[in-house]
Amino acid sequence: MTRTVFVNGHYLPEDQATVSIFDRGFLMADGVYEVTSVLDGKLIDFDGHIKRLHRSLSELDMAAPCSDDDLIAIHRELVRLNQIDQGMIYLQVTRGNPGDRSFVFPAADLAPTIVAFTQNIPNLADAPAAKTGFKVISVPDMRWGRVDIKTTQLLYPSMAKMMAKKAGVDDSWFTENDTVTEGTSNNAYIVKGNRIITRQLSTDILHGITRAAVLRFAAEAQFEVEERPFTISEAQDADEAFSTAASIFVMPVVEIDGKPVGSGKPGPVATRLREIYLDEMRRAAV
Ligand code: PDD
Repeated sequence: MTRTVFVNGHYLPEDQATVSIFDRGFLMADGVYEVTSVLDGKLIDFDGHIKRLHRSLSELDMAAPCSDDDLIAIHRELVRLNQIDQGMIYLQVTRGNPGDRSFVFPAADLAPTIVAFTQNIPNLADAPAAKTGFKVISVPDMRWGRVDIKTTQLLYPSMAKMMAKKAGVDDSWFTENDTVTEGTSNNAYIVKGNRIITRQLSTDILHGITRAAVLRFAAEAQFEVEERPFTISEAQDADEAFSTAASIFVMPVVEIDGKPVGSGKPGPVATRLREIYLDEMRRAAV
């Protein structure tokens, strides 16, 4: 089945969807994005993703490309047309095509470019990696200073993913002044006894939509939540570690820089939080 994608108001076969070479997203990474997971053909935490999209747009002085009702309609139509049961929907909004290259922002009334497509991942909820856990290495966080804005400027995270691959592991955790900021495309946590520790929100990390839900569920399940920086050595000595994102939900982290965390296997807290997250989010999916 050919994938149908969305570009600027049209649903098209993927090989017919095009964007200008002058698009600010292409030339300047002047665009923002969201990744929403799909379970049972429904959108997970869509409200959260839309709220963050608006925040990213407003931090960059970009107007919303269409109404929220249009956005949900586009997501649902892509799920329907591509018969997605489990997977993800990628949505990107750029400042548009000014018809040339310039460092100056184009006039505010230029139409933004809006693109969306599905990724079909039949075993997203039942990912084999969740049973074995991720191994990670630490790498210096060399991204720009506003990673709280979900821009398409992903070269360094992509390089960090390649560093992990070359090291024979699954992901990298970024460090700044010896403390962990987050993963290449996920938020990072450690567990000590009944306490879940994760870096506080700031411009240093993306304000994960999964993070917000997991911390809420953790508090409801009587875990203590402590939002503060932690070091790699503290993480290596923790009982458990894990990462969260729309693409991996709650993913146990079992090894950091070659040292096993806890038992070196997915721990009970990460496993339980993953179950709670999937149950609750499936129930609330739209
Ligand atoms: N990434 N931190 C970074 C740097 C991210 O890129 C992401 C998400 C997260 C987790 O955010 P959320 O829980 O809202 O998915 C944290 C997406 C999945 C991606 O780029 O594919």
